[in-house]
Amino acid sequence: MNKQPIGIFDSGIGGLSILEEINRVLPNENIIYLADNKNCPYGNKDKSDILKLSLKNASLLIKMNCKAIVIACNTATTNAIKEIRDSLSIPVIGIEPAIKPAILNTKTNKIGVLATEKTLTSRLFNKTSNKFSKKVEIYEQIGYGLVDLIEKGKIKETRDLLKSLIDPMLQSNIDQLVLGCTHYHFLIPLIKKILPKNINIQDPNEAIAKQTKKILTINNIQNSLENKYKNIIYVNGKTEIIKNMIKLNGEVNSLDF
Ligand code: DGL
Repeated sequence: MNKQPIGIFDSGIGGLSILEEINRVLPNENIIYLADNKNCPYGNKDKSDILKLSLKNASLLIKMNCKAIVIACNTATTNAIKEIRDSLSIPVIGIEPAIKPAILNTKTNKIGVLATEKTLTSRLFNKTSNKFSKKVEIYEQIGYGLVDLIEKGKIKETRDLLKSLIDPMLQSNIDQLVLGCTHYHFLIPLIKKILPKNINIQDPNEAIAKQTKKILTINNIQNSLENKYKNIIYVNGKTEIIKNMIKLNGEVNSLDF
């Protein structure tokens, strides 16, 4: 049994979709979540900046006594997970675009991946996509401008932009659309309206929560107390959207980090 919290971070609200899933799968675990929205978006920054920001977030979570870290950000995972793991002695779980389940499900042998620029150009993403590219064609699309709108809570306003990003992939006959950025989870209702019914959306949030549970169990650090989870969210920029967007058992605080 281990009462220490799990630490989660993202460049803003994207990772809250993973937080909700972790609350569901691990209802006894307390969470500390860092929303680094002062530095959002990460997706078009230099790799060295993404690395610096990711290490800063991870070391703050260590100071806050976390027992494991979930990087709830594809951009930070694909650009910094190795360095974060090398610098820490606690388990680190990351999120990458869910190419594998898309490949297992495709019938047209064509899949689309919508992600940030720095996820799509990362070595880790390219290593994974090259491994599968003999079996299927992978259409990559940078989600230009989407994260900025989502951070402002302007979900409906993404519609036309989203359609212009997705349409070329549809014309290429994809039947799986991989959401490779945690922010895009909040666009799912809108994406469902744009996509024809035969196209699957691959969103790995549930798999990440289950993987977190598995890692806690393997390391014997799960909280088995009859404890209802509590979430403490620290935000270094604006807090309003986070407060409005998410129904939480917990609190949202401002903190300069
Ligand atoms: N939510 C993040 C991701 O999964 C980062 C988005 C951004 O800051 O550009 O990639």
